Amino acid sequence: MHLNTIQPVYFSPTRTSGKIVHAIAEGMNIPVNKEIELTYPTANQEITIRDTLAIIGVPTYAGRVAPTALERLKHLHGDSTPAVLVVLYGNRDYEDALIELRDWAKAQGFIPVAGGAFIGEHSYSTAEMPTAAGRPDAADTEIARNFGKTIILKLKEFNQPDEIPPLHVKGNFPYKENNPKTPATPSTVYELCTQCQYCIEICPTEAIELKEEIESAPETCIKCCACVKECPNGARIFNTPFTEFLFKNFHDRKEPETFI
Ligand SMILES: Cc1cc2nc3c(=O)[nH]c(=O)nc-3n(C[C@H](O)[C@H](O)[C@H](O)COP(=O)(O)O)c2cc1C
Repeated sequence: MHLNTIQPVYFSPTRTSGKIVHAIAEGMNIPVNKEIELTYPTANQEITIRDTLAIIGVPTYAGRVAPTALERLKHLHGDSTPAVLVVLYGNRDYEDALIELRDWAKAQGFIPVAGGAFIGEHSYSTAEMPTAAGRPDAADTEIARNFGKTIILKLKEFNQPDEIPPLHVKGNFPYKENNPKTPATPSTVYELCTQCQYCIEICPTEAIELKEEIESAPETCIKCCACVKECPNGARIFNTPFTEFLFKNFHDRKEPETFI
């Protein structure tokens, strides 16, 4: 199969999914289209991706595809378009996220050709209690590039996307149940906040507002921690017992898994 372009697609509040999607694309050595970025609120326009190879990356939230990612992905369609499916997770587990993404892709008209589960710094990692800090790192990126190369070699064996055999990935159906949301949200350290409003700009769900001070709306905040990771003044924090739980229980380095 001959491919002229690669189409990156991702939802990536703390940017790890985006990094891996780009690293896989780099390894393919084919011109890369401008990414379809689903991290920020979109116009909910229906988009069909065709005549390209899509690489679609999302984070794992509670062992599933991040719900906001899934909502936005529903507007994306394939036309027997080959797709590489990637989930990022924070060194705990990705459980049913990758199989859910593969099933979504099939239902939307994509042909899954390869899948990957990569590790990204956990959204709840802190300097004092790190979990997967700094990942994906150089070793992960190298694995992603090689994965890209291998996918291209595999695709050369086929003339048409519909000749590609079904893709098997790890995970179960029915998927793990989604846990009910916790009301807590990141908060602001007022002494450090300069009210620059960058957090408002980068919040994937427009959950942050400047009232008297910078505040998150509990109904819309998805606890992705983009504001915590990106605040230039370190003024946003998320106090959650998960930080310590993850630090204590998921310290051993996990390695990326690929399915092809
Ligand atoms: C609400 C929420 C739930 C999460 N659930 C999991 C999980 O079940 N397993 C895991 O290993 N990491 C989990 N993570 C961590 C993210 O999957 C991880 O940090 C990922 O790299 C974030 O991707 P992004 O940088 O593209 O936003 C969770 C993060 C958030 C915010």
